[in-house]
Amino acid sequence: MTTTHVALFLSFAFLFYAAQGTKVTLNNKCSYTVWPGTLTGDQKPQLPLTGFELAPGASNSVDLPSPWSGRFWGRTGCSESNGKFSCATADCASGQIACNGAGAIPPASLVEIFVAENGGQDFYDVSNVDGFNVPISVTPQGGSGDCKTSSCPKDINSLCLADLQMKGSDGNVIACKSACLVYQKVEYCCTGPNNKPETCPPTNYSQFFEQQCLDAYSYAYDDKSSTFTCSNRPDYVITFCP
Ligand SMILES: *[C@@H]1O[C@H](CO)[C@@H](O)[C@H](O)[C@H]1NC(C)=O
Repeated sequence: MTTTHVALFLSFAFLFYAAQGTKVTLNNKCSYTVWPGTLTGDQKPQLPLTGFELAPGASNSVDLPSPWSGRFWGRTGCSESNGKFSCATADCASGQIACNGAGAIPPASLVEIFVAENGGQDFYDVSNVDGFNVPISVTPQGGSGDCKTSSCPKDINSLCLADLQMKGSDGNVIACKSACLVYQKVEYCCTGPNNKPETCPPTNYSQFFEQQCLDAYSYAYDDKSSTFTCSNRPDYVITFCP
């Protein structure tokens, strides 16, 4: 092989490799800074980027291997004091901007993505199962099949029921808790005898979340289990304040 052949081979190998990946682009359309966090599930190694800052109007992207499953969320009201980083909502308690394998402390709006192997069927959704802190959406790009957007564009904080409100130091509602978090009851958490879809119907609290955002999961057994699917290696765009 000549040097040219080697160069050609390497560029094709790189193109092929690049085409295999799933790119997730995060955009911040909020008027405030959001600090996204990423968490890889199934005890797999974490992504190189587990937390970063996203100023208003900024975007950043991460590449996912396949298969992959995990979640994305946005932390708000973050600051550093005495060398320790922490956030008013959806903190991961790592003490740093990077979450390093720690998940969001609820309440937190979540985007969940399950990337299939070999271009199979991906699943993704916006979830308010762990409560709500920031409007968020997820849209596949490319791919084939349904590939609908899952979105919770409403500011649920301003509409949050009195008993679910989480208030900041200034008294404003900064997040909206799930009934499971507040009341720790099996009927809200879908645990114990209520750990099946048949025994965990919607409640007045899950219906509140459902009414605000029809396209987001409102509780663990929300009737949307295969609503958001897309095949053939789509990329994804996650938007804060869509
Ligand atoms: C929801 O139902 C529970 C139990 O029936 C009741 O105590 C609570 O006040 C209701 N909450 C709302 C917001 O309707």
